[in-house]
Amino acid sequence: MRNWRRLLRISNRSFLAFIFFFSLSTSCLYFIYVAPGIANTYFFMVQAQGMMLRDNVRTISHMIRLYTNKNSSINGTDYPDGNNSSEFIAQPTTYLPENFTYALNLPCPEKLPSMKGQADVNMTEMPMEDIYLQFSKYTDVRNAGHWKPGDCKPRWKVAILIPFRNRHEHLPILLRHLIPMLQRQHLQFGFYIIEQTGTQPFNRAMLFNVGFKEAMKDLDWDCFIFHDVDHIPENDRNYYGCGQMPRHFAAKLDKYMYILPYAEFFGGVSGLTMDQFRKINGFPNAFWGWGGEDDDLWNRVHYAGFNVTRPDGDIGKYKSIPHHHRGEVQFLGRYKLLRYSKERQYLDGLNNLKYTPKITMSRLYKNISVNLSPELAPVADY
Ligand SMILES: *[C@@H]1O[C@H](CO)[C@@H](O)[C@H](O)[C@H]1NC(C)=O
Ligand SMILES: *[C@@H]1O[C@H](CO)[C@@H](O)[C@H](O)[C@H]1NC(C)=O
Ligand SMILES: *[C@@H]1O[C@H](CO)[C@@H](O)[C@H](O)[C@H]1NC(C)=O
Ligand SMILES: *[C@@H]1O[C@H](CO)[C@@H](O)[C@H](O)[C@H]1NC(C)=O
Ligand SMILES: *[C@@H]1O[C@H](CO)[C@@H](O)[C@H](O)[C@H]1NC(C)=O
Ligand SMILES: *[C@@H]1O[C@H](CO)[C@@H](O)[C@H](O)[C@H]1NC(C)=O
Ligand SMILES: *[C@@H]1O[C@H](CO)[C@@H](O)[C@H](O)[C@H]1NC(C)=O
Ligand SMILES: *[C@@H]1O[C@H](CO)[C@@H](O)[C@H](O)[C@H]1NC(C)=O
Repeated sequence: MRNWRRLLRISNRSFLAFIFFFSLSTSCLYFIYVAPGIANTYFFMVQAQGMMLRDNVRTISHMIRLYTNKNSSINGTDYPDGNNSSEFIAQPTTYLPENFTYALNLPCPEKLPSMKGQADVNMTEMPMEDIYLQFSKYTDVRNAGHWKPGDCKPRWKVAILIPFRNRHEHLPILLRHLIPMLQRQHLQFGFYIIEQTGTQPFNRAMLFNVGFKEAMKDLDWDCFIFHDVDHIPENDRNYYGCGQMPRHFAAKLDKYMYILPYAEFFGGVSGLTMDQFRKINGFPNAFWGWGGEDDDLWNRVHYAGFNVTRPDGDIGKYKSIPHHHRGEVQFLGRYKLLRYSKERQYLDGLNNLKYTPKITMSRLYKNISVNLSPELAPVADY
């Protein structure tokens, strides 16, 4: 009798477990059904990092709530759980008054009256020629897109690196929004478009490494922004300077309904100082195709002892230019590589990269085109 009861209890428990896993898998399937892109990224993170199951369930149900009741989270408190880590350092939000006067010999402040906050994004396509005319007429952006403020000492010399392939209609849209924004922020800046030629899958990370090395030949840039061409900032208070810690600028993307898809998300637009980027040995070169390289960068940053900061509230909002993945393939080997992030960090990156660029000066940017292949970044055994 006693044995019988014990047996029953065990089967009760397994029945509960069955119910639990059944509802869990149903939630997962539903989640995949409603949000294939994020689900993909999300499950891949789970697999790569072995995150706690309990935490996942919490965040998945959070996501489902968002997708089923689209009204609920438009207003601010929409970070997934786990936001009270040091990654969300509050910043004072006082901006200087309109009558603030600049001084030539003093560094430009970070919170300027010229930074007005949220603004509309205009996605209209236009020829690059129009952008050039617009900016050469009213300002002194010339000479491959280099500019610096004339009324104070720029706090950062910022190189904007944009990896590129086959997206000619996106570039004018991005530049039209970025140039005025950076001018309002009184930063010194220059644009580098790193274009991949050849037939290999797109390698965003390796393009960034190439861009970094090429930019350093021009000027002693002290801050690097790694910027996707299809991400348009909505808020000019998203200050594109660097800091003590690497920064993730694109915290809220419209394509993810303005929530962070997962806490370790580091994609879209990020920024590191020259020293930070050198210290982490740059991006990995081994990610061929879409996905994973930003997560590896996250790992590298943390293994090097940094944390990541993000802009507060709605300042980190971005719109993405809608497009189809034109024959861009996903990188399936990323799962494996991410498990060995730590071992690979100092074997693959800035230090094992060889390439031969073809450089042309365009009027608003420097055009670095480069034919990439895996042989250019050999990795020793690990
Ligand atoms: C969403 O918002 C609209 C208008 O604000 C409202 O009519 C609708 O009932 C809301 N839906 C839900 C599910 O709250
Ligand atoms: C969102 O915030 C604005 C201003 O803070 C407020 O007026 C509005 O009612 C809020 N909307 C919702 C749905 O909470
Ligand atoms: C996350 O941040 C929001 C607003 O900053 C806060 O209300 C909420 O309590 C935080 N969540 C956790 C788990 O600390
Ligand atoms: C979040 O904040 C609460 C209350 O301040 C604290 O008890 C908890 O440990 C924090 N969680 C994390 C992950 O930092
Ligand atoms: C990064 O964050 C962790 C956890 O919040 C903290 O323990 C650590 O001291 C931080 N590191 C730095 C360099 O601030
Ligand atoms: C600037 O404007 C503020 C109020 O907006 C005023 O209090 C301050 O005196 C002004 N400063 C100068 C130098 O005019
Ligand atoms: C967007 O830009 C185009 C081209 O400059 C212009 O014709 C159009 O009026 C703009 N739209 C808005 C809403 O500003
Ligand atoms: C960059 O230069 C190459 C020629 O070297 C050209 O084919 C390509 O269109 C240019 N790309 C951009 C974005 O200007």
